[in-house]
Amino acid sequence: MTLDEFRTRAEAHKNDAGVAINAAVDATALEAARTQVWSRTIQQSFSKALGELPAEDRREAGRVFNELKMHVDGVLEERQRAIDATQRTQSTSQIDLTMPARARWRGGKHPVTLVIDEIVGIFRELGFTVALGPESESEWYNFGSLNFPPDHPAMDMHDTFYLGEGALLRTHTSPVQVRTLQRSAPPLRILAPGMAYRVDPFDASHAPAFPQIEGLAVDEGISFVDLKATLTHFAQRFFGKTRTRFRPSFFPFTEPSAEMDVECRLCEGVGCSACKGTGWMEILGSGMVHPSVLEAAGVDSERYTGWAFGMGPGRIAMLRYGLPDIRLLYDSDVRFLEQVAE
Ligand code: PHE
Repeated sequence: MTLDEFRTRAEAHKNDAGVAINAAVDATALEAARTQVWSRTIQQSFSKALGELPAEDRREAGRVFNELKMHVDGVLEERQRAIDATQRTQSTSQIDLTMPARARWRGGKHPVTLVIDEIVGIFRELGFTVALGPESESEWYNFGSLNFPPDHPAMDMHDTFYLGEGALLRTHTSPVQVRTLQRSAPPLRILAPGMAYRVDPFDASHAPAFPQIEGLAVDEGISFVDLKATLTHFAQRFFGKTRTRFRPSFFPFTEPSAEMDVECRLCEGVGCSACKGTGWMEILGSGMVHPSVLEAAGVDSERYTGWAFGMGPGRIAMLRYGLPDIRLLYDSDVRFLEQVAE
């Protein structure tokens, strides 16, 4: 092997490598070319040739070899850049700038939340504040403290979700009455919105989990007049000009008890299928707080009296928005929610 022969071999490899590298059209092919042009066999044949040269020529041959290596690396790098660039243009060309823009999604408040906020707002002006209680409740708070006799049918397994160890899912928000009275001494005016649970079918007018709002006012000298006046004021603020009527009812924790009706929102009192021809719609249960509830909460029932109510903001949302099926409130169907969301 002479120096000239070595030069020729280096020149030949320069050409071969250039052809192999520039034939690569994508990253995978380029990697294959990279391994091929500097394969072990090629490296070995160059170092063998170098060893066969006369000692005085080896220095120059080393320089030639380094030059070859730098050249080939340069070609590899250049090819790499070219492939990257085509890939970039390819992926940009997949963006269709004529496509319509994606709609912006705005969140909104659920109709039940809107109704609760409005009710709370009306009562807030009358000096009521919001109080909350747990949804997992003890039998005593849910029933016992509220004067339910131990064998009351509402406590039946078929009516109430029991959680074991004396706990249950509250069947109404009324336990918040007792919890609040235990914490803060009267005078007191609170509203307690929250979920309640009953073993009910999930159909057009029932749901096993439903929102309620409890109201409670306790002070010295509170009478049924306060109850009627406040709830009538509320009905007119919420529904607009409407008549109200109170019908005698029964709850273990109020005495006397009354259900309040407002004029049917659909027929304005004339009578239609929604109000079953009566012209009235029931919106809440209420009554004077039973003395034994006050006593259970540690309040002196000789000194204090109070009134309370419970209503279902889900049903009220149905009245307000004219909904035929309560399940609409649970479906999270955007097409429905968009119609009422604020
Ligand atoms: N807790 C009763 C219910 O769920 C409603 C109610 C509350 C009635 C307060 C009177 C007073 O049906």
